Amino acid sequence: MFDRLKCDIAAVMERDPAATSPIAAYLMYPGLKAVRWHRRTHKLYLGGHLFLARAISQWVRHRTGIEIHPGATIGEGLFIDHGMGVVIGETTIIGKDVTIYQGVTLGGTGKERGKRHPTIEDCVVIGVGSTVLGDITIGRGSKVGGGAVVVNNVPPNCTVVGVPGRVVVREGARVDVVDLHHEDLPDPVVEMLRCIQHRIDRIDARLTRDESATPGLAKPSGPATAEAGSGTDAGPDRIEPGSACDLSPVPVLVPTTPVKEDQ
Ligand SMILES: CC(C)(COP(=O)(O)OP(=O)(O)OC[C@H]1O[C@@H](n2cnc3c(N)ncnc32)[C@H](O)[C@@H]1OP(=O)(O)O)[C@@H](O)C(=O)NCCC(=O)NCCS
Repeated sequence: MFDRLKCDIAAVMERDPAATSPIAAYLMYPGLKAVRWHRRTHKLYLGGHLFLARAISQWVRHRTGIEIHPGATIGEGLFIDHGMGVVIGETTIIGKDVTIYQGVTLGGTGKERGKRHPTIEDCVVIGVGSTVLGDITIGRGSKVGGGAVVVNNVPPNCTVVGVPGRVVVREGARVDVVDLHHEDLPDPVVEMLRCIQHRIDRIDARLTRDESATPGLAKPSGPATAEAGSGTDAGPDRIEPGSACDLSPVPVLVPTTPVKEDQ
């Protein structure tokens, strides 16, 4: 019993720079009180004394602002700093040396039964005001940023922030979740105009070739004629077959009667 008390006090001294002495930690830290009372209520809960266990845990909540359901499984070295507004649900499992700040909820997502609260692995830090919901796992050594709402599993050694929580650091390296290169965004209007230009070039070249091959057709004029007059479709053939700009087959118009010059 004293070994556990020493371990609890050591957790406070180690993780709170404001802790001045072990006796102050023992007397003034609501988190320490709540954790110690939870060990007793958990034994009662496992022994089937659910009402008494709940009654004591509610009394502890009034005194500390920390509500730990007697059914929660809590490992050694849990440090709840400040405490007020912490809620730990019935099927929560907390590993060793976990740190939780005020306003943290480890809760379920609805009225489902069975394992419905999070599993927090060893050495996790859960920041002020954050919410971890559902039967998810926060991997060993991970940090949940203040104010985050986490609803998915978090791998080990990650930092997760925001609503909904997203991993921003994994194994010490930044994870770039947002591409801020707005200047590189594709412009759909420009893309469409480029496609239309390809179509026009191709049709123009095909017409020019057909006109020069067919006696009686008018000699084409204009810039496209100069480019395609040699009989090659240099520009338009850049289009990849099957691409959005591929127009094949392009219909070929063959006049059955001689066409007059002014048509
Ligand atoms: C998340 C936290 C643990 C920092 O982790 P870290 O691994 O050192 O990460 P960094 O500080 O390098 O931050 C990484 C990115 O997340 C952002 N970030 C950090 N904390 C955040 C938070 N709580 N909410 C939203 N974004 C956050 C940072 O701005 C940074 O983004 P950027 O690089 O685009 O600027 C810390 O910010 C935190 O929230 N700790 C909780 C402590 C606490 O509750 N104290 C209460 C004392 S009473």
